[in-house]
Amino acid sequence: MKAIVQDRYGSVEVLETQDIERPEIGDGEVLVRVHAASIHVGDWILMTGVPYVMRFATGLGKPKNRVPGTDIAGTVEAVGRDVQRLRVGDEVFGWCDGAFAEYASAAEDQLINKPANLTFEQAAAVGVSATTALQLLRDDGKVQPGQKVLINGASGGVGTFAVQIAKALGADVTGVTSTKNVEMVRSIGADHVIDYTHDDFTKGAERYDLILDNVGNHSMSDTRRGLTPNGTLISNGGGHSDGKLGRTMRAMLVSMVVRQQASPTVKTQNHDDLVVLKGLVEAGKVTPVIGGTYPLSQTPAAIGHVAAGHAQGTVVISVPMQSTGAFATASTMTPAVAST
Ligand SMILES: NC(=O)c1ccc[n+]([C@@H]2O[C@H](COP(=O)([O-])OP(=O)(O)OC[C@H]3O[C@@H](n4cnc5c(N)ncnc54)[C@H](OP(=O)(O)O)[C@@H]3O)[C@@H](O)[C@H]2O)c1
Repeated sequence: MKAIVQDRYGSVEVLETQDIERPEIGDGEVLVRVHAASIHVGDWILMTGVPYVMRFATGLGKPKNRVPGTDIAGTVEAVGRDVQRLRVGDEVFGWCDGAFAEYASAAEDQLINKPANLTFEQAAAVGVSATTALQLLRDDGKVQPGQKVLINGASGGVGTFAVQIAKALGADVTGVTSTKNVEMVRSIGADHVIDYTHDDFTKGAERYDLILDNVGNHSMSDTRRGLTPNGTLISNGGGHSDGKLGRTMRAMLVSMVVRQQASPTVKTQNHDDLVVLKGLVEAGKVTPVIGGTYPLSQTPAAIGHVAAGHAQGTVVISVPMQSTGAFATASTMTPAVAST
C-alpha cells in the first residue's frame, strides 16, 4: 500500500511516500481502508519531535510509529478475532496509529460507525481537535447555559469545534478571528465575532465567564483582564512554535496561585467522547469545517499549511479508492468551505 513514512524527526522533508506492507491486525483489531485522514497541530509536533521531552513517549532517536497521522474515516476491510461490534464493509471514523496511508489498523474501541450525514472527509475531521474542544469546554470549563464564552482562534481546528460545542452547551459565544474568517465563524453559530485586525478583546469592555485561548498572542495577565471575577482562562496555545512549551509551563505555575487561570492539560481521545461527538453531529449541532483537501502524496504540504498557524477549520487528506492516479497529480487543494 501507499503510505507516508517518517524514519527521523525534522521538518516536512522527513516525510516520504513509500510502498509498504499493509498493517497486520491482532485480536480485537480492525483493518480500515482509509478514505480520509485529517491533520492537527499534534501531527506537526510529532513530525518535528519538539518539544524533546515528548520523545520519551514517541521514540527517543526516531519515531516509534513510522507512519504518522491519527484521525481517520474509512471502510472496515478485515476484522480480527474477538471483534464484536464492527463488520467488514462498515463505514467508520475514529483514531489509529498510521492514518496517512491507504490502510490503517486500530483497536475496535477506537472506531464507531460514521454518521450518515457526514462525508468521509468531514468524519475524519472529527478527531483530536473536536475531542480537545469538547473536553476543554465541558470538563475543564464546565460551561453552563447562558454563560459568556470567548474563543480566541475561533477559525482553526480546535476553534471551529469549540464555537459549535459552546453553543451546544447553551453559551453566548464570541469568536475572535481575522477579517477573512469573520463570516465563517458567524455561520457556525458564534453570536458575536471580533476581528482581531481591528479590535483587541483584551482591551474591550466586555467580560467573559470563560476564555478559551487557542493562540497565545497576548500575555496571560492581559487575557485574564477580559474575565468576570469568577471567570476562567484556559490557555490552550501550545503548538505552533517551540517557545510555547515555556508558555504552557508558565500557565501551569500561574494556575497554582491565580484562581482564574486553569492548568493546561493534554487531551486524549476516547470511545465515549467519540460517541458524544457523533451525537452532536447527528443532531446538527456540530458540522466540521473543512479548510482544504489534499491528496495523500501531498501530506507534507498539508502539515506545513497547518503548522503556519492560519489554517481554516480542519485540513483533510483524501485517499480515493483508486489512489494510484491521485498520487500522480499535483496538489488538489480545494477552496475553503464553511458549512453549518
Ligand atoms: N490540549 C491539547 O491536548 C491540545 C490538543 C489539540 C491542540 N492543542 C493546541 O491548541 C492550539 C490551537 O490548535 P488548532 O488546531 O486550533 O490550531 P490551528 O487550526 O492551526 O489554528 C489556526 C487558527 O488560528 C487563528 N489565529 C492565528 N492568529 C490569531 C490571532 N492573533 N488571533 C485570533 N486567531 C488567530 C487563525 O485565524 P486567521 O487565519 O484568521 O488568523 C487560524 O484559523 C494549538 O496551540 C495546539 O497545540 C492542544
